[in-house]
Amino acid sequence: MIRPPGPALVMGAGAVGCWVGGCLHGAGTEVHFVGRPSVLEELRLSGLTLTDLDRRRQHVAPAQLRLHAEVPELRGAQAPSLVLLCVKSGATAEAAALLGLRLPPGTPVLSLQNGISNPVAAAGAAPSLQVIPGMVGFNVVRASPGHWHRGTWGELAGQSHPALQAWRPVFAAAGLPLALHGDLRPVQWGKLLLNLNNPVNALAGLPLKQQLLDRDLRHVMAALIDEALAALAAHGIRPAQLAALPPRHMPAGLRLPNALFRLLARKSLRIDDQARTSMADDVARGRRTEIDALCGEVVRLAESAGLKAPCNAWMVQRLAQPVTQPMSGRELRAALGV
Ligand SMILES: NC(=O)c1ccc[n+]([C@@H]2O[C@H](COP(=O)([O-])OP(=O)(O)OC[C@H]3O[C@@H](n4cnc5c(N)ncnc54)[C@H](OP(=O)(O)O)[C@@H]3O)[C@@H](O)[C@H]2O)c1
Repeated sequence: MIRPPGPALVMGAGAVGCWVGGCLHGAGTEVHFVGRPSVLEELRLSGLTLTDLDRRRQHVAPAQLRLHAEVPELRGAQAPSLVLLCVKSGATAEAAALLGLRLPPGTPVLSLQNGISNPVAAAGAAPSLQVIPGMVGFNVVRASPGHWHRGTWGELAGQSHPALQAWRPVFAAAGLPLALHGDLRPVQWGKLLLNLNNPVNALAGLPLKQQLLDRDLRHVMAALIDEALAALAAHGIRPAQLAALPPRHMPAGLRLPNALFRLLARKSLRIDDQARTSMADDVARGRRTEIDALCGEVVRLAESAGLKAPCNAWMVQRLAQPVTQPMSGRELRAALGV
């Protein structure tokens, strides 16, 4: 077995945190999970179970889990050699500040969050720590208490950093290949383009696969991506390709009739029938969504180039309010005029 460089700490034991932390535990890492009391209670009762669409099934017994309601003060050999920051965007600054108060200066913190600005916000709130941008290319949902399920394919990525180099073999042994990039921004923007489907999925109230096979809903996603591509081009940013098509061809691909789209997106459609976005979960539970870190980021990028992004702006406004009724693709197209 590969020897991990040291313990790991998951800040925000939820979908991504439990999944990635659980996989690292399976590869022999001492993992500390910091989470909310309700999640910790589930883990104490049921242990941690991970499953995925490739028939992975892993169980960690409750007694083997290191669970914390607050960031533990770990020093010396006990100190984490890697922190995984896995909270939603709205909780980033507070979580990072708590880490900064308790962990030794210089501790590497890998932000496994969507959007562009979370690593910057975390670094601002915890200047003593080394925050490294990361990207999660797959989807994880809570299937039942203590049980997390990865419902799509995809990999992890991070910005090149000596700490991550040392951890790469452990991630590989955990079944989570970690690609390192000299500049992660293009990858973050490539992922953000795909995440522009999250508000569409959340408003449609459908499982991800069913939603992606609705051409009207794909038209809405294409309109959101068109605006983002125009803003990116105005800033000279070239987003990385993370799906079947290069980003500039994604809107046209999404607008194709279903039969052609199915062929083109074969790999991306390898999704569990019940998989849904975490934004859909947030909407269903009446929680604050990450819309500002996704569509809001596009609106700000567009405005800073003197452009407008009205469809993304509409999404930001719509998701600031409660969603009580799902919207059909036609209704959404009519609302956005696309
Ligand atoms: N889920 C996915 O499939 C997926 C895929 C790719 C990327 N991502 C990104 O990964 C990030 C995490 O998403 P997620 O779906 O894993 O979120 P999640 O399931 O909501 O997990 C985050 C957990 O952290 C908790 N938390 C927040 N602040 C905390 C604090 N100070 N101390 C302890 N616990 C705290 C949250 O509790 P509260 O809810 O009470 O705040 C929640 O239980 C997001 O940026 C998301 O966009 C998610």
